[in-house]
Parts: sequence; C-alpha cells; structure tokens
Amino acid sequence: MKVTSAEFLKSAIEERDWPRDSLPEIAFLGRSNVGKSSLINSLLGVKGLARTSRTPGRTQMLNFFVINRNFRFVDFPGYGFARVPREMKQIWGRMANDFLANRAQLVLSIHIVDSRHEPSTQDNELHQWLASLNATRPHLTVATKSDKLSQNELRKNFERIERTLSSETIAYSAATGRGREQVWRRIVEALTASSRSSLPGA
Ligand code: GTP
Ligand code: MG
Repeated sequence: MKVTSAEFLKSAIEERDWPRDSLPEIAFLGRSNVGKSSLINSLLGVKGLARTSRTPGRTQMLNFFVINRNFRFVDFPGYGFARVPREMKQIWGRMANDFLANRAQLVLSIHIVDSRHEPSTQDNELHQWLASLNATRPHLTVATKSDKLSQNELRKNFERIERTLSSETIAYSAATGRGREQVWRRIVEALTASSRSSLPGA
C-alpha cells in the first residue's frame, strides 16, 4: 500500500461524535503501552502522527486518522493500566463494545500484544470477544516489540501467543519495520472484501 496522505481527523469518546461517513475503518486495540500508536506510525511511515509515550495510559479517547482520503485507522486507548480510575475503565468497556459490536464501518480489528509476555487475562478476554464477532468482523493478532527478543526467544514466545490465543499472529517491530508488509497485506484484503460486499447486488 502506498500511503499518499495520512491525517489526524479527531478524538472522540461518545458514539455521537464518531465520524458518520461510510469510510471503512481498521481498529487498533491492546494493553496500555503495548505499542498501538507506534504500530500506526510505523505502518504509515510517519513519526509522531499518533502520539506515543513511555507513560502508559496516554491515549484516552478514540483517535481517528484518515489514510489516502479513503479509509481510517482508529487508535484505541489501552486497557489494563492499574492506575486508570474505575470510571475510565467503564467508559473503555462501553466504547469498545459499541465500536466492536456495532460499528458498521469496522472492517478489521488488530489486536496488539507484547512479544515478550504471555497474553494477560484481559488480552484473552478481548481475544475471545473478537473471536465471537469474527463471522462479520475479522481480526488479527500482532505481536510487537519483537526487536527486544533474540530469534530463539521470539520463536518460543510467538508459539505461546499463537497457542494461547489460537489466532493468526504476525511478529512486528515498530523499530525495524519487521512485519509491516504482512500487516498491510491483511489490511488491504479487509478493505478489498468490504468494497466488494458494499457493491450493489453483492
Ligand atoms: P497507550 O496509548 O498509552 O496505551 O500506549 P500505546 O499502546 O499506544 O504504546 P506506544 O505506541 O505509545 O508505545 C509505548 C512505548 O513502547 C514507547 O516508548 C515506544 O517507543 C515503545 N515501542 C512501541 N513499539 C515498539 C517496538 O516495536 N519496538 C521497541 N523497541 N519499542 C517500541
Ligand atoms: Mg497510544
């Protein structure tokens, strides 16, 4: 995919504030600080479009980005950060539920996990949830920060992640660009499938 333009559109929490046009959307979800915003910047080949931070819990709203004036990336706030107030956790749950279960524009959910760690309880819960919606809404697991592991460690951890989540997983690194082509391929497939199914008579 050649990225010709990538623009920040808006941040929003409530459904009434989400974009209303029919551009297809790819959602990026995962634990706090796992590297969601870095993955977005790395896919787009831009630094700093999606704000990244060493401090977990920085992204608190949905952030919408328009790519090639043709589709959108949606950067989710991370979950599982202990210091986030309970009220914020409830808002996350409601927002994710409204988005993942009902958002007509959603064509692919990308679940990001850390290559170095075993998936957490919440990772597993999110995964189950995405899997249960899979008939209409495909999802994909991306194991990022793979540059922080040796080849051997990566292979072991990667197998464990695939086994635990029983899901197609792509090893990624925002630092080296590893996995970039593979993730783009899946995004393009999802966009192509959605444009086919929205053709009249399809
Ligand atoms: P929240 O929005 O707070 O939930 O975080 P996030 O999931 O968007 O994570 P973010 O992209 O802000 O990255 C968190 C930290 O991990 C930053 O310091 C990044 O530089 C670092 N990081 C992200 N991806 C990678 C990677 O592939 N390799 C390495 N070495 N560091 C990474
Ligand atoms: Mg972020």
